[in-house]
Amino acid sequence: MRKNIVAGNWKMNMDYTSGVSLFSEISNILSNIVTGDQEVIVCPPYIHLNSLAQLAKVNNRISIGAQNCHQAESGAFTGEISAPMIKSMGVEYVILGHSERRQYFGEDNFLLAQKVDTALKNYLRPIFCIGETLEQRNGNIHFQVIKQQLEEGVFHLPKDDFAHIILAYEPVWAIGTGLTATPEQAQEVHAFIRKEVETKYGSTIANNLTILYGGSCNPKNAKELFSQPDIDGGLIGGASLKARDFVDIIKAF
Ligand code: PGA
Repeated sequence: MRKNIVAGNWKMNMDYTSGVSLFSEISNILSNIVTGDQEVIVCPPYIHLNSLAQLAKVNNRISIGAQNCHQAESGAFTGEISAPMIKSMGVEYVILGHSERRQYFGEDNFLLAQKVDTALKNYLRPIFCIGETLEQRNGNIHFQVIKQQLEEGVFHLPKDDFAHIILAYEPVWAIGTGLTATPEQAQEVHAFIRKEVETKYGSTIANNLTILYGGSCNPKNAKELFSQPDIDGGLIGGASLKARDFVDIIKAF
């Protein structure tokens, strides 16, 4: 059956010292409590990947992910970081298609499909984010938007490659706003996503697919969200910057 995952997206937060101490704090609390077999992933800014990947080898309860990668494997792209570079540090995951990348950096589904290909080619597992804006939800086109993001971003993949994908449903209106989708709203979309995946790749792949919810998830609402049948964990922004809150979300399973 599919894996439950709680992933922390630190975004552009934490300088070098603060990042190492936040990670150590999370790691210490986790090694002193009993949790289920859910996987824990921390996605810090690039500057932390190497040191945290080393620390994660000691506490093998936590895996590391990047927040982005370039679509090319190397070359004259000043300021960019490639999938092979990320992989070379022992990192296993990469967030792709986050709504902040789509909104502020103009990343569209076609560019993201290339990034997904490059990540997979380099044995990084994409955590591929999809989700509608408030305007799209109010216009009642959210299912259409999500379907298109799936079709253009990941449905070009052959079955064996798609099996390595993790999806994250992140309604844009819930990210960093304190507005959470209700468990029913989130479940409705997660079930829709799983159905689309089933139609495309069959029921085994669909049942094994981990679909995370993201958007103002916190220790108070995590339990109810994670108890929905098609919600397999969370992609956590703000609350992942506080060790206690992040661990309480992990414990919500
Ligand atoms: P948030 O962010 O938890 O701060 O709403 C979630 C995300 O952007 O992944």
